[in-house]
Amino acid sequence: MNICRTKQQLKLAVKEAKGQGKTIGFVPTMGYLHEGHASLLRAAREENDIVVLSIFVNPMQFGPNEDLDRYPRDEQRDVALAAQCGTDIVFIPSVQEMYPSKPLTSIKVAEVSERLCGASRPGHFDGVGLVVSKLFHLVEPTRAYFGLKDAQQVAVIEQMVADLDMNVEIVPCPIVREPDGLALSSRNVYLSAIQRSEATVLSESLSELANALKLNGAMTPAQCIELVTDNIKEKTSGDIDYVELLEYPALMPVPAHEGLLDALADRKFIVALAVRFGSTRLIDNALFHVE
Ligand code: PAJ
Repeated sequence: MNICRTKQQLKLAVKEAKGQGKTIGFVPTMGYLHEGHASLLRAAREENDIVVLSIFVNPMQFGPNEDLDRYPRDEQRDVALAAQCGTDIVFIPSVQEMYPSKPLTSIKVAEVSERLCGASRPGHFDGVGLVVSKLFHLVEPTRAYFGLKDAQQVAVIEQMVADLDMNVEIVPCPIVREPDGLALSSRNVYLSAIQRSEATVLSESLSELANALKLNGAMTPAQCIELVTDNIKEKTSGDIDYVELLEYPALMPVPAHEGLLDALADRKFIVALAVRFGSTRLIDNALFHVE
């Protein structure tokens, strides 16, 4: 496995692969890898000649009071897991290498980035858009793999790629969960034992909503949100940041008064939530496709 710490090393490796006509599957991450990341690497391994992983905790996507400084890191373990998943190239740049000077260019994807995490983390998706487009230019991937754990991120990146005619196929991948339903996240390590057990309520309430919708497709968006919100309030000590139901991938509200199945025939909607357990903010979501 080729570990590149500079853009120059990475560009050389990419040039060589491209020269041989090879396809490149790319998995951008911030490290502290878990099975969710591994699932993306495996998908990339199956579909491409070369697999590139990037590990970079991107300061531009963290707000001033967020967890940039304490974001968990373990490079050795990450590199070992990457090798196990058949990764060919790992790009691990320093902040100085990625941003030798303060970037003056910004990537703002309007509308899709404005609600959900975009509303509670101002500037977050601008930072994601900037780093992902830099990485796309460096890696020149044929396909790039993103988890639906961050469904809004997928929507933002897909919009950016379409708007800027970037020559890459975005491959959204399913959420990987613990056996009890908790979506895997590098931030789960912050949870205390009690918070960890309460956190299962997030995915449980989304499953409960899925079952309720099967029985009653005439539920309104407000009823859906209430079901999830009540569950979380009753069964956890978590602070709800948001529980929202939006059309996907546009991330716009659906008509409030109508039953969902009528309002959204042949379209997708998402129920997304963010809940704080102490200083740890967890997100989860479920996508529904109305036939
Ligand atoms: P990070 O949080 O490290 O996540 C990297 C990729 O792994 C993202 O596409 C994310 O959606 C995916 N992922 C995380 N947990 C997952 C899970 N439980 N199941 C499936 N996929 C999962 O997302 C970022 O980093 C950054 O914003 C980045 C895109 C790297 C830009 O800095």
